[in-house]
Amino acid sequence: MRLVLLGLPGAGKGTQGKHISEKYGIPHISTGSLIRGAVASDSPLGREANKYISKGNLIPDELAIEILHERLVEPDCADGWILDGFPRTVRQAIFLDQQLAKIGSEVQIALDIRITPEEAIRRISKRRVCSQCGAVYHLTHYPAKGDGVCDKCGGKLVQRQDDTVETARKRLEVHMIQTHPVVHFYAQSGRLYSVNGEALISDVFAEVDRLIAHFADEGDGASAGGVL
Ligand code: AP5
Repeated sequence: MRLVLLGLPGAGKGTQGKHISEKYGIPHISTGSLIRGAVASDSPLGREANKYISKGNLIPDELAIEILHERLVEPDCADGWILDGFPRTVRQAIFLDQQLAKIGSEVQIALDIRITPEEAIRRISKRRVCSQCGAVYHLTHYPAKGDGVCDKCGGKLVQRQDDTVETARKRLEVHMIQTHPVVHFYAQSGRLYSVNGEALISDVFAEVDRLIAHFADEGDGASAGGVL
């Protein structure tokens, strides 16, 4: 299965991507996480990317494509993947289609997780992430049991540098201008599906799961092989 998750910052792409990955055993690839990893390691690529990410802007397409491509050629991607945060521009979407066409494959589901901008700000400003394992919490909806420490590994919970209200507003603005057209791109080719992202996390997943199962039942070639 090759699935891309779309939606405003804070829509729940990472949360749902993790659940889908656990159930279907395919990798969940978040370009945001890959970029934050590069920033944390202080690599030249990370330093360059941080100039954009810290201000709420997208990193240049060339850089995003390079980061994604390096990850997709790894062997665990041969039977499919869930992309979270890519494509974020129509140019990235076209790149992905072109690369997949080379191996006779395509993005099968572009899933738009829909929430309002107001809900996005509420979620982003109360999100906390584990500094060690990257687990995601929400101070109200999905709090950690301990005080400021991760339930899974005991790591310290921190706020992402781009999760301030001011930077989140900028990310929403950038999304509407640069990323929203990607929704139309997939709609035009009949691959767009949407779910209400404002329901409970478990209910959103139930809806996503029904959609994926329905798709698999139809014999969509979900396990078409080939590494990008
Ligand atoms: P990225 O990391 O992709 O950030 P994003 O798209 O802004 O998405 P978020 O991670 O903020 O939210 P999410 O939808 O994953 O929500 P989550 O599940 O965490 O990108 C960051 C930056 O990297 C970009 O700004 C850009 O600079 C750069 N970048 C990345 N990819 C790029 C690309 N391809 N090209 C160029 N630049 C790129 O949930 C949010 C919170 O809500 C959590 O606290 C969660 O617990 C809670 N929550 C989730 N679901 C629910 C629910 N149903 N009900 C209540 N709470 C919920």
